Amino acid sequence: MRVFSGIQPTGNLHIGNYLGAIRQWPELQEKAECIFSIVDLHAITVPYQPKKLQENVLDAAICYLAAGINPEKSILFVQSEVKEHTELAWLLNTITPIGELQRMTQYKDKSKQFKKSVNAGLLNYPILMAADILLYQTDVVPVGKDQKQHVELTREIAKKFNSKFGKTFKIPKAQIPAIGSKIMALNSPKNKMSKSLGPDCYISLFDEPSIIRKKTMSAVTDTGRKIIYNPKKKPGISNLLTIYSLFSNKSIKQLEKDFRNKGYSDFKKSLANLLVNSLSSFREKRKKLIKREVYVKEILKQGRKKAQNIAQLNISEIKKKMGLI
Ligand code: AMP
Ligand code: TRP
Repeated sequence: MRVFSGIQPTGNLHIGNYLGAIRQWPELQEKAECIFSIVDLHAITVPYQPKKLQENVLDAAICYLAAGINPEKSILFVQSEVKEHTELAWLLNTITPIGELQRMTQYKDKSKQFKKSVNAGLLNYPILMAADILLYQTDVVPVGKDQKQHVELTREIAKKFNSKFGKTFKIPKAQIPAIGSKIMALNSPKNKMSKSLGPDCYISLFDEPSIIRKKTMSAVTDTGRKIIYNPKKKPGISNLLTIYSLFSNKSIKQLEKDFRNKGYSDFKKSLANLLVNSLSSFREKRKKLIKREVYVKEILKQGRKKAQNIAQLNISEIKKKMGLI
């Protein structure tokens, strides 16, 4: 079984990224061949600072490693260093209907958010993602809920290619966690926790304890006093219960019982302690890795070589099918 996933190098990872996607990765690398990519070519579809990009790529690699990616077991590499991704993206461009791209929720959201700089890359983003996945004959794509639509489009593109040019691609499946696939913003629990909403909305995997406590204590909660799970009526406390449950491995039902006679403030204090403890190993690992830049760069170099071997083999097969070689 082969697994592929990617994350954009856009700064610190937050607990939404972790609970929705990354948490599954260390488990998967024990039983499958895993390929994880730092997708810098996706990150340049919205305004960015070229000088900061390299720094962010290295930081993303450090974050991945600190979150449990084992370079002996998984391939970790930078997307733009394997040029077959862009090559396959172009080939897939020629069989993807524009209408499908225009109806993607992420495209609609981002083109509203970055009104002044909507470029063709933003529209074609899902094709590059399809290329990432299909280039490696991927079976499983572990992602959060927001990426489900893109994986579904990838499946459609693969099926279309296969019926047009003969069976070439495996049809990949998204793997989305049953709980935690959409962690909400702490300061606005009706919106998804996202880097673009600013640092008050998220807790980074690497925040210092004092920051974790401050952000947890000031998380928006709902009217009433009861700690019960009801995402429609009590989105704030329900989001915090979800986070608590996933980090503690206790069911939400159990937590409702444990906190039956307690108030929001007690609950938040306990959650803050849990988060400070759960995230301490990420913080420590990251601190050590920051000092080992040469080692991290070597991991990316080895990852690139391994990814390239698979990619080159597959792209020539794909081009042959299309009549290009
Ligand atoms: P991004 O940071 O947008 O590149 O997302 C990286 C991964 O984290 C993707 O698999 C997303 O689906 C997942 N993700 C991002 N935000 C959240 C969230 N608030 N809750 C759960 N998963 C998320
Ligand atoms: N689009 C994904 C996101 O923003 C990142 C991504 C790029 C990805 N290529 C991928 C995820 C391939 C899984 C598989 O989260």
